[in-house]
Amino acid sequence: MTKEDNLSKVSLLYFSPTHTSKQMAEAVAEGVSASRIESIDLTCDLGNAPIHITEGVAIVAVPVYAGRVAPLALERLRRVTANRIPVTLLVIYGNRAYDDALVELSDTLTTLGFIPTSAGAFIGEHSYSRSLMPIAEGRPDATDLSIARRFGNDSRPFLLAAHSCVPHLPLPGNRPYKPVSTPTPAVPISTDNCTSCGICVDVCPTGAISITNGERPVTNPDLCIKCCACVKDCPSDARIFNTPYTKKLHTNCSLYQTPTLFFPV
Ligand SMILES: Cc1cc2nc3c(=O)[nH]c(=O)nc-3n(C[C@H](O)[C@H](O)[C@H](O)COP(=O)(O)O)c2cc1C
Ligand code: SF4
Ligand code: SF4
Repeated sequence: MTKEDNLSKVSLLYFSPTHTSKQMAEAVAEGVSASRIESIDLTCDLGNAPIHITEGVAIVAVPVYAGRVAPLALERLRRVTANRIPVTLLVIYGNRAYDDALVELSDTLTTLGFIPTSAGAFIGEHSYSRSLMPIAEGRPDATDLSIARRFGNDSRPFLLAAHSCVPHLPLPGNRPYKPVSTPTPAVPISTDNCTSCGICVDVCPTGAISITNGERPVTNPDLCIKCCACVKDCPSDARIFNTPYTKKLHTNCSLYQTPTLFFPV
């Protein structure tokens, strides 16, 4: 196999309840311009069959939850094994901070058999953003997507070289990672606008929502991860999540942050 063959295929793995991580992964893949892209969407994948990546390179994109990799994303990634596959890591955060998420993702993927080769922290509209209290509304925007495509292209030589020389990729973050915060019991609710269409049931990554006899959706608080997929994908704006974090983040995280990119030294 020649070095160039490495870019014959890119495996795109992502967990993306509100679609921003998916958007970034696809933009970076465009820049990498491999001849073949295989998308592996772990968002609503409740299965546990192993996933083996045996050829080419990979891009892994996950959201930041509480300064760490979203726990369910990590859990789903642990089904994956890779045969020394060079990988570009992407964490997507809602304009607050990504804290220890990049080092956590890098450590986990290394354990699974990947070779971390380049990394980016990108901004996505915050899951808790609402039209009256926006947080990073509309991100990724055209500038983010253009940076992501360029980043993919700039990552190519490192992805190609990683098989012959293991890269040293310094990343910001602490070990041990930030402690995981205790979740609050609050979950999204459905209002009178609800038409019982069932879309929220389909997009929920954990199967937390059920609808019986055409009635309003019921949410199991033990399964809900507060990802807000149901809120953002509801076609009737009937699903709401009232959390005090929306106002806090709207007030404190309004400064436009730009993506941060990391390459081997
Ligand atoms: C439970 C939860 C915790 C979050 N914690 C953070 C955080 O610590 N820092 C941050 O900037 N954004 C945080 N976010 C926002 C997400 O990282 C951001 O909206 C991301 O774009 C979501 O990715 P997705 O669209 O692929 O689901 C959090 C979102 C949720 C649902
Ligand atoms: S997606 Fe919205 S309208 Fe449809 S069932 Fe869920 S809450 Fe109701
Ligand atoms: S019910 Fe909870 S886990 Fe399911 S989509 Fe809504 S916020 Fe996410």
